[in-house]
Amino acid sequence: MGKYVERFNTKERVLHWFVTVSFLTLVLSGIGLFSRLFQGYFDLFGGGVSAILVHKYAGVTFVIASLLLFLNHYKEMNFFDEDDRHWFRILGGYLDRNPEHINSGKFNAGQKGYGIFMGVATILLGVTGFINWFPLSFPIGIVRVSLLLHGLMFILFIMFVIVHAYLTTIGNPGTLESMIYGNVQRIWAKKHHPKWYKEVTGQEKPT
Ligand code: HEM
Repeated sequence: MGKYVERFNTKERVLHWFVTVSFLTLVLSGIGLFSRLFQGYFDLFGGGVSAILVHKYAGVTFVIASLLLFLNHYKEMNFFDEDDRHWFRILGGYLDRNPEHINSGKFNAGQKGYGIFMGVATILLGVTGFINWFPLSFPIGIVRVSLLLHGLMFILFIMFVIVHAYLTTIGNPGTLESMIYGNVQRIWAKKHHPKWYKEVTGQEKPT
């Protein structure tokens, strides 16, 4: 029996990296609009006008790719069972010196929460982004609320993404392989997602 189990297929990985690259482009091209402190970032795109143009196209790419990613994983994320509730009660064990073993499925409760947040936040960013794009087509009050919400969602989003990037790399070694190669080591799967490991292999222990 091989050393690896499949975790994400090619379509899922391509979609995830599309989302990531368009997200990073959005951050770099939009951060100068967020505060004057960051206006130097416009130079990366040859000035403010072209940065805003890039922001609009990256925004459309991001919303489409992120919603497709959300729809792809929705069935695996739209429920919280007793093990997930336990995960929330002990905050995934991240604050314990000796974290206990949690019987997570394909995604743990934190990942499900993150995935659902991403879906909802993408819709909000997309809708407010559209209003900000055509401000003269909407009442001024709506445009003001939309600008505020867009900025607030951006702050929340970036906080979640930083935690996500940390947890999927330095925080849990072996995880990034799933998004690069599509498969993970059996021993990783058994340790982090024992219920999923049993579902896909029919085994309790890695062989
Ligand atoms: C440099 C940045 C990023 C890195 C290193 C990264 C890495 C990963 C990895 C390794 C996984 C698979 C986790 C597993 O197998 O359990 C994953 C899943 C996922 N990523 Fe990312 N990602 C990044 C950015 C993003 C961004 C910007 C978004 C969305 C805006 C995103 C959304 C997701 C979602 C929804 C999943 C599936 C659920 C989950 O595992 O939490 N990722 N990411």
